[in-house]
Amino acid sequence: MIARPFGWTGVKVAVIGQGTWRMGESRAAQPEELRALRRGIDLGLTHIDTAEMYADGGAERLVGQAVAGRRAEVFLTTKVHPQNASYAGTLQACERSLRRLNTDYVDLYLLHFWSAGHPIADTMRAMEELVRRGWTRFIGVSNFDVRQLKEAQAALTRERLVSNQVLYHLRDREIERDVLPYCERHRIAVVGYTPLARGGFLRGVVAEIAKKRARTPRQVVLNFLTRRPSLFTIPKAGRPEHVRENAAALDFTLARQDLKTIDAAF
Ligand SMILES: NC(=O)c1ccc[n+]([C@@H]2O[C@H](COP(=O)([O-])OP(=O)(O)OC[C@H]3O[C@@H](n4cnc5c(N)ncnc54)[C@H](OP(=O)(O)O)[C@@H]3O)[C@@H](O)[C@H]2O)c1
Repeated sequence: MIARPFGWTGVKVAVIGQGTWRMGESRAAQPEELRALRRGIDLGLTHIDTAEMYADGGAERLVGQAVAGRRAEVFLTTKVHPQNASYAGTLQACERSLRRLNTDYVDLYLLHFWSAGHPIADTMRAMEELVRRGWTRFIGVSNFDVRQLKEAQAALTRERLVSNQVLYHLRDREIERDVLPYCERHRIAVVGYTPLARGGFLRGVVAEIAKKRARTPRQVVLNFLTRRPSLFTIPKAGRPEHVRENAAALDFTLARQDLKTIDAAF
């Protein structure tokens, strides 16, 4: 497992974590999902990402079970839905999340999307209050562009944004244009979501590089997506064997030529 400083905080966080979107939806799938999350923690995928929105709280409840008895090993992230992101609504949403997660704090609390309905200043003020109460260690945002990041930063008086969680996979590298350079200048950790882009790398240059390096195409993808110190990723895997594959994605280094080849192809 590889961990590295999470933005300006210096706190070491697993470069590859675990997503939980679509988990906790079906009772039948839950035992295997629970096994997968726990296996992931065993293998060092200790950054667990969830949200109040996922399975209407079901994903948070599942995560609560997965981390029971080992809360301190895990860097736990959850998110407030923009509809709830008024000042009071944010505090209440966080309290509900903590209850479902069966913990008294999260490590990172994010605004899930820019909220059209609630002034960003109100949400950020609530976020600062959550830190003051000890309900979250750090605060951040998700799906924010540079203009939105600046507005959120300007609204903060006591705390700093730690992270921006954004879409990042080989077929969508949009963040590399503005968001990533901006976050790097401000030492905001960039957590990429949907890294596996729902598959499809079994042929082509990624597959060729994987074969040459005796890895799987998904391992090459995850390795590439975390090639800079500012980059983290949170693949979701509901099956233990998938978790095992993802956890071994960083025990090799892509050659400069491999990076160039992927750059050119995507
Ligand atoms: N902030 C946001 O707005 C936002 C939006 C989307 C996602 N996210 C977060 O990011 C996480 C990841 O994104 P995502 O769930 O959209 O997509 P993803 O992680 O790119 O892909 C998940 C899919 O890949 C499969 N998979 C994972 N590892 C595999 C492996 N080694 N071999 C074969 N298949 C594998 C999973 O299957 P199995 O489940 O069967 O293992 C699942 O079907 C989410 O779960 C969520 O926590 C955040």
